Amino acid sequence: MGTGGAFGIVVATTVISPLHAWLALLALTTCGCAHESVTAPPAAPTIDPNAEPLPPQTPEDDRPALNTEYFLGSETEERAQFAAFAQKIQAIQKQAAADHEQPVQRGFHAKSHACLDGRLELDRHRDPRTRFGVFAGDGAPKRVVVRFSNGVGWRQGDGELDARGMAIKVLDVPGRKYLPDEPGSQDFLMTNSPVPVGRDAVEFMKFAQANADGRLFGLFFLIGHASTASQALSRTTPVNSMVTERFWSGGTFHLGAHQAVKVSTRPCDLRLVREPSRSSDDYLRADLVDAAKSGVCMTLYVQFQTDPERTPIENASIIWEESDSPLVRVGKIVMPPQTVDPGATKACDQLAFSPWHSLPAHKPMGHTNRARRYVYEASRVLRGGGAGSSAGGSDPAPPAASP
Ligand code: HEM
Repeated sequence: MGTGGAFGIVVATTVISPLHAWLALLALTTCGCAHESVTAPPAAPTIDPNAEPLPPQTPEDDRPALNTEYFLGSETEERAQFAAFAQKIQAIQKQAAADHEQPVQRGFHAKSHACLDGRLELDRHRDPRTRFGVFAGDGAPKRVVVRFSNGVGWRQGDGELDARGMAIKVLDVPGRKYLPDEPGSQDFLMTNSPVPVGRDAVEFMKFAQANADGRLFGLFFLIGHASTASQALSRTTPVNSMVTERFWSGGTFHLGAHQAVKVSTRPCDLRLVREPSRSSDDYLRADLVDAAKSGVCMTLYVQFQTDPERTPIENASIIWEESDSPLVRVGKIVMPPQTVDPGATKACDQLAFSPWHSLPAHKPMGHTNRARRYVYEASRVLRGGGAGSSAGGSDPAPPAASP
């Protein structure tokens, strides 16, 4: 499949179809991604996504997320389904590596533009409903590292149709997390679409396979899933800059024991405009490096679930409209002026983000999110990323187990 993968079909289908017919699509230990001040989450034992049986979604001392409706009726059946997804994502990673003649990389969001250091600054007078998990406490700033990325699971030019990602890792967070590999991290993963592709992980995994297979398969997927995929795929046009984009969590998360929220960011300065030259395949990195010199700032919001139908959890493809659930400001992600080390891309790529690097107060909710617990781990293991991995090595470690 040529560069751009299935996304190239978007242009053609945009003409053909009246609806949204775009298809697109550290090791912190040594992270020199930006400032050398970022230190590693300590390495710890990992889970093996191919282990039989998979570890439970909810540790025995925990309860399922609020109002969980298991896709297949029970958690046990879902776990068997997720084991298949974990193996499928590794097969897709290997397929992408072979098709694009690149090393094995992330199943999605393979290309980093850069990682920036920063801090989470909570608003002093924030809404009391927001004061849970890392949004609780006295509001003292918390260190973060932020990875900006393209969406597909291989490196391609930034001018190709694609999703864009912003992954925030809050560091030095005490308390029990769902994944054991980074005990100090609370991660928030977002893309520049308010919803992911697909109502659930079953549809998302079909999309993942179609995207890896190429344009024709991608087109068939879109035609078959227009109502649940077109919103996300319509957001894949090239962007000017990562620092002028809005980002959304797509999935739903607990905020405390009894509330469900989506998380999003937008630039602190809503009038900010950047118009870099798009002549280079890596123009988004060049723009980000330039923006970082004077600092980058994003305002952080949550939206509360207000209605089971208008703001659903299990069907991730429905946008939570701000008229139904207004943005509630929590604070800012401040990335102060910094110099991005030109050689730091590899270290940035070695980082591992997962929505399950999470305190119970931010527990991921919904089928799409439950699957991510295993799929991200499978992707990370195959590519040899995460805490304890070698940021300097050029070849990823072999998989812990073969699918
Ligand atoms: C619900 C909305 C979703 C959002 C907002 C989202 C966002 C992201 C982001 C920002 C990254 C890059 C993280 C980084 O910088 O390292 C990522 C990676 C990834 N995503 Fe998602 N994603 C979503 C859903 C899914 C689903 C449903 C799947 C599959 C079932 C999936 C599979 C992956 C994989 C395999 C990776 C690479 C993991 C790694 O190797 O570290 N994502 N996602």
